[in-house]
Amino acid sequence: MTKAEIYINVAAQISAVIEGETSITARYATAGCLLSEAFEAFFWTGFYVVDPLKPTELVVGPYQGTLGCLRIPFGKGVCGACAARETTIIVEDVHVFPGHIACDSRTKSEIVVPVFDKKGNLAAVLDVDSTQLACFDDIDKAGLEAICKSLLV
Ligand code: SME
Repeated sequence: MTKAEIYINVAAQISAVIEGETSITARYATAGCLLSEAFEAFFWTGFYVVDPLKPTELVVGPYQGTLGCLRIPFGKGVCGACAARETTIIVEDVHVFPGHIACDSRTKSEIVVPVFDKKGNLAAVLDVDSTQLACFDDIDKAGLEAICKSLLV
């Protein structure tokens, strides 16, 4: 299977599992688990959600991988940059990204995708990290953005 085909499959699996589920935590946890299972190169896969009590800060949500940091202010690291810009960011080499937050020094590249609620407000970001350099491309961007669009009730 090509990478694009794997994304189509995993998106269908996620939709089937979360159909009718109203808990956003359950929906994020399902997406994180199935994505992490589908792609061996995904070393850390998970969500940082906008803290409703402090809307300029992300707090860690459901994830698969090694220990992630708990909070990331908007503008800090790749996740914070994605939250501030509200656009997908692909980083081929985290060591040259200014302000990258090294939760695990094995991470070499990453992609962070914004998740919007039904009103179009930022709800969370999906962070996927890899131990390979330049692991992510436009196919990952398209696949992950489509999955993120399907997550909110
Ligand atoms: N990679 C992120 C930090 C979060 S962890 O790696 C799980 C960043 O720089 O935004």
